[in-house]
Amino acid sequence: MVKTESKHQVEVFPDAASLAQAAAQRFAKLAHEAIQSRSSFSVALSGGSTPRELYARIADGEKSSPIDWSSVQLFWGDERCVPPDHIDSNYRMAVETLISRVPIPHANVHRIKGEMNPGQAAEEYEETLRRAFGLTKSQQPAAAVEHLPRFDLILLGMGADGHTASLFPHSEAIHEKRRWAAAQYIESQRGWRITLTPGVINAARQVVFLVSGTTKAERLFEVLYNPIQPEILPAQIVRPLDGQLTWMLDSSAAAKL
Ligand code: 6PG
Repeated sequence: MVKTESKHQVEVFPDAASLAQAAAQRFAKLAHEAIQSRSSFSVALSGGSTPRELYARIADGEKSSPIDWSSVQLFWGDERCVPPDHIDSNYRMAVETLISRVPIPHANVHRIKGEMNPGQAAEEYEETLRRAFGLTKSQQPAAAVEHLPRFDLILLGMGADGHTASLFPHSEAIHEKRRWAAAQYIESQRGWRITLTPGVINAARQVVFLVSGTTKAERLFEVLYNPIQPEILPAQIVRPLDGQLTWMLDSSAAAKL
């Protein structure tokens, strides 16, 4: 079922497996289109558990419809401040499910260095973005899209508390207007996180949320239909300036819609 409203598109699939398959097909289609029109596909992966199946399906797709991975630039929307081989590392999860199974050049994989001091890791990631997108750091609040890293695709998940990437309720990064990446200690996670900031997320050409499971249903209704209050529902801060926002859900997550 597809519902298109002025600001976003909602697609509902029967279960987590069909959701992952549809998202993998969307990923491959966007990759082919970006590479065909701009010779490159820049994508920021999301972390957590939901995208594991998606990343595995993207790798499976290599047999039938291979992606030109030499033209793919891989980033992350957020990272836990842990070493890259730590069980909680979003980078490690992507290596296990995708990166170890596709021919992407090492130089095209731009992980957030969770093992570094958080503030330094955020600055280092900004420098990586600056180089990859050929930008200089604008000293003005980066309002205009042309001064921001403009991803072809940003994949996002949503926590049961309405967070996305590592923009958690009441976290300062929700209101960040100049930095492209922010380091924060997140009390509820008892740990430091690095996250892309809303300006970069909203500059993307395509933003796709992947949400699965009954535990997200109540909050998803609030995010989509309650008044805009990003302080308590950070996922609401995602409103692409001129890109397409798509919510890809399984029927459990969509049960309250
Ligand atoms: C992370 C993610 C985070 C995730 C949500 C949903 O680093 O954890 O980027 O934003 O997408 O917490 O996580 P699940 O898919 O595990 O429910």
